[in-house]
Amino acid sequence: MAGQEISKDESLSLKGYRHACHVMIYADTEAKLFGKIPIKHIVLMQMRFDGFLGFPGGIVNPREESLEAGLCRELWEEIGMALKVGPEDHCSSCLALSPPDLVTHFYTKKLREEEVREVERAAVSSAADHGLEVMGMIRVPLYCLKKGEGFPSFLSNSFIDSARSQLLAALRVLGLLSQEELEAAVATAKMMRQ
Ligand code: GTP
Ligand code: MN
Ligand code: MN
Ligand code: MN
Ligand code: MN
Ligand code: MN
Repeated sequence: MAGQEISKDESLSLKGYRHACHVMIYADTEAKLFGKIPIKHIVLMQMRFDGFLGFPGGIVNPREESLEAGLCRELWEEIGMALKVGPEDHCSSCLALSPPDLVTHFYTKKLREEEVREVERAAVSSAADHGLEVMGMIRVPLYCLKKGEGFPSFLSNSFIDSARSQLLAALRVLGLLSQEELEAAVATAKMMRQ
């Protein structure tokens, strides 16, 4: 069933399915917006060619390459550098909302702040897909200001497939935002969309 979570092994035994792997790159930071509002963490997403927000990564062929090797190849194309993402970084696998015959595998990778800056530089200067399939890497604002500026308004954007749920789940599981902060942001985003 579309949107349903599935184990990585079980998904690889499905006949006639394609597989895609994406990764959330993140880091801790001490930076403060306007010198006072903690940025908390740096979380990278990308503006895709189709105008939707998503994570770097792409289609992988498990008959020719492991999921992680395929993800690394996609990262070469989309961020212009090699990042070691291994099976231990796997977070979830899901049947895609559309197309119906796609499994989306999701990974998270923690870097140091300087390494994230390196990724951002490479994404502009070296990535083959920059300006083509990828319009740019972006940082997710995780703070929430008085009228919902920040994370709630960010959540009001359009996301590809289940990327928005992947973002919320990763922030919760990794403890980057508290359950209360997440619920408040989702509720505010819902009001802002109306
Ligand atoms: P091509 O090189 O053109 O094949 O693109 P790609 O290999 O980079 O594939 P892409 O990253 O677009 O991912 C393939 C499919 O996975 C997309 O058509 C979306 O349906 C889905 N997808 C893309 N990004 C994400 C994401 O961040 N999360 C989830 N859940 N699905 C995504
Ligand atoms: Mn300013
Ligand atoms: Mn790609
Ligand atoms: Mn891609
Ligand atoms: Mn591709
Ligand atoms: Mn491509």
